[in-house]
Amino acid sequence: MKESFIVEGIGGKRVLEGNIPVRGSKNAVLPAMASSIIFNKPLTLTNVPDIEDVHRMAELLENLGAVPEQTKKREYVISGNKTHTSVMDEFLSKKMRASVILTGPLLARFKKITFPHPGGCVIGARPIDLFLSGFEKMGATVKEQKESFIVTAPKTGLKGANIFFHIPSVTASETFIMAAVLARGKTYLKNVALEPEVTALAEFLVSCGAKIEGIGTPMLEIVGTGGKLLSPKRVYKTIPDRLETGSFLVLAALAGKDVTITDCQPEHIEILTDMLIQSGVSIDIGKNTIRVQQSTKKNFRPFNIKTHEYPGFPTDIQAPTVVYLTQAKGDSLVFETIFEGRLQFTQDLVKMGADITLWDAHRAMIKGPTPLKGREVDGPDIRAGLALLVAAVIAQGTSTINNVYYIDRGYEKIEERFRDIGITIERVVKEV
Ligand code: EPU
Repeated sequence: MKESFIVEGIGGKRVLEGNIPVRGSKNAVLPAMASSIIFNKPLTLTNVPDIEDVHRMAELLENLGAVPEQTKKREYVISGNKTHTSVMDEFLSKKMRASVILTGPLLARFKKITFPHPGGCVIGARPIDLFLSGFEKMGATVKEQKESFIVTAPKTGLKGANIFFHIPSVTASETFIMAAVLARGKTYLKNVALEPEVTALAEFLVSCGAKIEGIGTPMLEIVGTGGKLLSPKRVYKTIPDRLETGSFLVLAALAGKDVTITDCQPEHIEILTDMLIQSGVSIDIGKNTIRVQQSTKKNFRPFNIKTHEYPGFPTDIQAPTVVYLTQAKGDSLVFETIFEGRLQFTQDLVKMGADITLWDAHRAMIKGPTPLKGREVDGPDIRAGLALLVAAVIAQGTSTINNVYYIDRGYEKIEERFRDIGITIERVVKEV
């Protein structure tokens, strides 16, 4: 069975009104769930979004012996202390690239791990060289066997090391923060990713006794416990999803009469709010809200984007921003520097009427404004899926967005929140 969304487009009108709440960040909560393995008691997590990737991470943890329990709406208690194996299931691991974050805590605690390559996906090849070389620097040996990697730490556990990431990878930074927290001695992590999700993890671990200096900078100095598990001293409250905030902002900019995005952290998406304001969108930024009020139809100015690590333009916001740029007056250039597959979805936008020239896998030119028409399209990944949903909302006529599973991986019950601001959207099940 496959699910699709049927969306009645509003044909370029500005009619959306009301509040749309942002849920907890997918990319913050996944490493926090994985961190339960380096704790000696159950960990409580709140503001956990009800999304497929959280369910997948819970399944992976359960498969390792941990006990993840949903105790309330958006609250989990995870007994990672009950984990008893460090052999990661191939089928479950390959379903989600983020499974790779489990390798750090598992290796630090059990001194040996077996895991499959988490796999590439539609957005790119997604290598794991930073993980393998980092473990080797911490004294481990890496063997490749059939489809799996077997990594073995010294008998006394991982040792502190000097690790320079040649790319500031988000999940590699998180993995090595967790590994170093339990290692013997001091680890220096250099060129660490600065994404708020990495900072949130490091700050949480520090609040539970980990010794990490330099949080929020590209260089961390971590003094390991020598194998001693941490004690949960507080509840992990998931930060708002800045990528969801950004997608809603684009939607409100394109179709909002008076839309307020609530429960968000505006400073995490400043680059987008700044660019949209300069492009002509009326935006009011509050402490935890962003309000877009736009009663008249006016021409938005185009702009160029080049995706970059935080605080630069997020690759995950590139797709919805491309939809925005199809409605700006003039030419815009998009340079996707992080992933080679993330402009493929523009083919679907072209099918809907956009004028986009793909120069190569990384660069596209958009000429706007072009009215969009409702079509049947496939959401190829989480972020492009949502971008196509936004395109369907502003289009003329009815659209069908297939592969809703991808949208469900990252966005909690999106149709309910869309309906609350005036969008006509229905989830349908297709027998296959
Ligand atoms: N890279 C390597 N070698 C490695 C690891 C990464 O070359 O060993 C490269 C990647 O191929 C990519 C670049 O480094 O070109 C940056 O990728 P990164 O490792 O930072 O990505 P990630 O950690 O796998 C996280 C998010 C992604 C988000 C990227 C970029 C999580 C769970 N995932 O992925 O989120 O796009 O950072 O910000 O945090 C999404 O939410 O839809 C999503 C894909």
